[in-house]
Order: sequence, then C-alpha cells, then structure tokens
Amino acid sequence: MLNYITSGESHNKYMISVLEGMPSGVPMDMDEINHELWRRQQGYGRGGRMKLEKDMVQLTSGYLKEHTTGTPIGILLENSDFKIHKMPEIERPRPGHADLMGALKYQQGIRAVLERASARETTLRVAVGAIAKQLLQHFGIKITSYVYELGNVCVDEKNVSFEDIEKRTKDSQLNCICPESEKKMIALIDQAQKDGDTYGGRFEVRVKGCPAGLGSFATYHSKLDARIAAAIISVQAVKEVGFGLSEELGRIPGSQSHDEILFDEDRGYYRRTNNLGGFEGGMTTGEEIIVKATKKPISTLRKPLQSVNMTSKEVEKAAFERSDTCAIAACSVICEAVVAYEIANALIEKFGGDSLDEMKRNHQSFLNQIKQ
Ligand SMILES: Cc1cc2nc3c(=O)[nH]c(=O)nc-3n(C[C@H](O)[C@H](O)[C@H](O)COP(=O)(O)O)c2cc1C
Repeated sequence: MLNYITSGESHNKYMISVLEGMPSGVPMDMDEINHELWRRQQGYGRGGRMKLEKDMVQLTSGYLKEHTTGTPIGILLENSDFKIHKMPEIERPRPGHADLMGALKYQQGIRAVLERASARETTLRVAVGAIAKQLLQHFGIKITSYVYELGNVCVDEKNVSFEDIEKRTKDSQLNCICPESEKKMIALIDQAQKDGDTYGGRFEVRVKGCPAGLGSFATYHSKLDARIAAAIISVQAVKEVGFGLSEELGRIPGSQSHDEILFDEDRGYYRRTNNLGGFEGGMTTGEEIIVKATKKPISTLRKPLQSVNMTSKEVEKAAFERSDTCAIAACSVICEAVVAYEIANALIEKFGGDSLDEMKRNHQSFLNQIKQ
C-alpha cells in the first residue's frame, strides 16, 4: 500500500515528502507534476504569495531514467519566500485558525503553529497526488473538479459530464464551468476584498474510469468512500464532504435515490443513474465517483474579529498578515490530488504488485472476472 508524510513550514527553506509503495516502471512526467503545482497556485482571490513563488519539485530518490523504481520517492520543494526566522511572533490568535489551541497545547508561540498549519503544506500533497495521477492514467482513470458555489452564487446544472467539466473549466479563473456565474463570484470576491472580508465555497471532484470493486465493506477502515472523506476533510478549511446527490439524499425517497442495476455483454453490470456518486458499501460501483465538498471562508480577516492578547489577556482584534481573500479554486485542485492518492492506494491494494506491468495484468484479470 501507499504511504506518505509531509514535512515543512510555510516560510522555511525546504518542504519535503516521502512517498512509499509506488510500483516500479511508472513513467514520471516532471512537467505534469509541476503543472499540477501551478494549477494549485491559480484562482481569483489569492494573496501576494502566489505571485512570489513558482512551485517546482524535484524527485530526489525512487526515480531513475524518468521512471519509478519501486522504492520510496523523495520529493523536495524549495520555498522562495524563505523568511521564517525573521517573521514576527503573533500574540492575538486568529479565530478559525490553529493559532490558539496549537499554542496552548504545544506550549509555544503562535508563529511555530501557523507555519505548519498553513495550507502551504498542500503543495506537497498536490505533488504526491500528481504522482498518483500518473499511475492512474495507466488504468484509464482520470480526475477533474469544478467550483459550483460561492456566496449566494450557485451553478445549478445537473448531470454535467466529465468531459464538459474539463473543457469548460480550462480558461476559468475560478475553476468554474459557467462564465456568467464566475463573473458574479469574482464580483463577490472584489467586494469582500474592499470590505476586508473573505469567502469559501463549494466544489465537486469527479473520478472517471475507476474499476468497480475498489475498497471493501468488510471493515470501517477499508471503506474507500470513508478514506476519501477523511482525506478531503484533512485539507485545511474543508468542513463538509458528501457523495453523489449528497445532502439531497436526506430529502428524497429511496425510489429516487438508489441506482438501478443493468447488465450488458460488453459493459458487464452498470447503473441507470449515479445518485450515490459511485459507492455502495464502501466499494466503487464502476460508475463515476462524485465527491462534493465545502470550504469555509478564509480565517485571516483584514477587518479582524475579536481575540485576546495571549500576553496581556486584554481583549484585542485578531492579528492580520498577508492572506488570500478566496482560495476555493486552489482547494478544488488540492482535493483532486488527495482523491487521486486515495484511489491509487486502493488500486495498489487490490491489484498490487512490484511493477506497473504486474498491476496491469492483475487489473485486467479482475475486469474479466466481474463481467461474467
Ligand atoms: C488553498 C488554501 C489556501 C488557504 N489560504 C489561506 C490564507 O491565505 N489565509 C488564511 O487565513 N487561511 C487560509 N487557508 C485556510 C487555513 O489554512 C485553515 O483554515 C487553517 O489552517 C485552519 O484549519 P481548519 O480550517 O481546517 O480548521 C487556506 C486553505 C486552503 C485550502
């Protein structure tokens, strides 16, 4: 199985990750990995940092002649905004951040807490997800995402196809499929910027081509939908996750919720609809995976909320430092990456082998089995 850890702080010199469990023989396209990092830095409403950095990673091990070797992959990223030793201590914790509890629990200043709690850490998660995406390609699995809600603006289009999402988000500044909605979302962000306020939003991640039978009903920790949900919620500021029709499933009857089963000689078993977003009993059904998530608004406000000075204990306004106004587009890209990792992990668990070729053989044999 796959495993990885990230290490690094927002303004420290380097960030590193080690990813273990990738089979050998997977071609690695560094431009593709760095392109995913670029996508993470985009989006209307980001702060000044994104203009300062152009994220690029190096693979320092587990990689030879443009292919994985089956040994742990070292991932190294240099922060051009390296200044952690010069950054001021913060005494007024910001509501919505790890500041207060992190400082109390670890008995240290807020600076050390926020440097690690920062979403800068997701740069490495996107790099790991980009490596996972390169494995998934060999099994015909693709991932995309789009933002559908921000403030009071909602793209209310049902049954948007995977290909449509890919095509219609290409030139979007907010990873949105609808130019009219995007214009309104941008106006909201501009207004929030003027008001010293911030926004979050909602988005969808889609996975196409995933075989049926990944994950298992057998234990709570082998349920793949549960693993994906945990991975999404672990992304900074994500507060809600659902599958398929998601919260709508609480309002409609069973007859309109469940996906009727059909059979075809060529396709094998398939479904008339995909209301459950590609999962039953923690296992993939072979339909598209549809994950929905909500990100809360950015916590650092230029017009700060009330806080308490941790030295004087006086009531004061929370601290402010350079910050995004809205990072919903980036968040959708990050969640693509964490979903890619979870799918790759489940794929390796099911078809695992030491090499890509061995995995492909196992995969093909299982596809033949479930068609019968
Ligand atoms: C892509 C991305 C960028 C973010 N940028 C900021 C930011 O500039 N300022 C900020 O206050 N929070 C930002 N956040 C959110 C915080 O990192 C997050 O709210 C904080 O670490 C507390 O974690 P929690 O919200 O999961 O409880 C960002 C989150 C994401 C996903």
